[in-house]
Amino acid sequence: MPEWLNALPKAELHLHLEGSLEPELLFALAERNQIALPWADVETLRAAYAFNNLQEFLDLYYAGANVLRTEQDFYDLTWAYLQRCKAQNVIHVEPFFDPQTHTDRGIPFEVVLRGIQQALLDGEQQLGISHGLILSFLRHLPEEEAFKTLEQAMPFRDAFIGVGLDSSEKGFPPRLFERVFAKARSEGLHAVAHAGEEGPPEYIWEALDLLKIKRIDHGVRAIEDERLMQRIIDEQIPLTVCPLSNIKLCVFEHMGQHNILEMLERGVKVTVNSDDPAYFGGYVGENFAALHQHLGMTEAQAKRLAQNSLDARLV
Ligand code: ADE
Ligand code: ZN
Repeated sequence: MPEWLNALPKAELHLHLEGSLEPELLFALAERNQIALPWADVETLRAAYAFNNLQEFLDLYYAGANVLRTEQDFYDLTWAYLQRCKAQNVIHVEPFFDPQTHTDRGIPFEVVLRGIQQALLDGEQQLGISHGLILSFLRHLPEEEAFKTLEQAMPFRDAFIGVGLDSSEKGFPPRLFERVFAKARSEGLHAVAHAGEEGPPEYIWEALDLLKIKRIDHGVRAIEDERLMQRIIDEQIPLTVCPLSNIKLCVFEHMGQHNILEMLERGVKVTVNSDDPAYFGGYVGENFAALHQHLGMTEAQAKRLAQNSLDARLV
């Protein structure tokens, strides 16, 4: 990666902590927790990171998360991510975690939260990286389950800045979660949601109008709807775009087709993020580098993208 790209101060606003689980740490945690894995070794697992769509990735992502059992595991996961951030001059992070992925396996909510929270606090003190944690609901599960998760989270209200919506998009429109998002907002939590990754522009409208989100996660399909484009430009609603993710999950065929710079030039407040860096081939820095290499992103454009990420922080 060019040094000038690495040196740019950046914020990462779209990162699933479970998606930062590198194969090496996955194997180490499996050994520590005496869990048998279906993959022979790290190389075999990495070789399985070939996906045709979001669902194929999610199946492996949830299987990988099964090695996370103890507070120390969640601490180690988060700490490893923050070290990567430090090396790439990421100065602020607003990561997601998926409580239901863990509570559904019998891991207590507070075990997950305490491990993540302690690493974030240490990251602030030892690495100088500020943070705001976002609790994400799994949209393939009923809204009822999201309500239960929000209830479990409320004793720890101060540990979060907001709620998000992730997992399988198609067939699970934002409108299914209108009431739980209203409840979260009434508690003073910010709202964000994945929309327009695989799903149609209508899902972005719903996320804005019904969930009242502050930021759109992905949102690359907004470009198919001119009226929607005008709105996100007029209202300067940030998009947390994840270029390498979009290629790995076949949202675009290759990086040369990605629309992030076209959006930037049209005045959309787009940002660069890594989504699930352990699975998609790189962290924020590698995402910037790919735009430079394949789309001819200039230094001026990189600076605007980095500034957008700092401007689009929720805290
Ligand atoms: N969970 C982790 N990564 C995701 C993505 N890119 N889209 C939806 N849910 C996710
Ligand atoms: Zn995501």
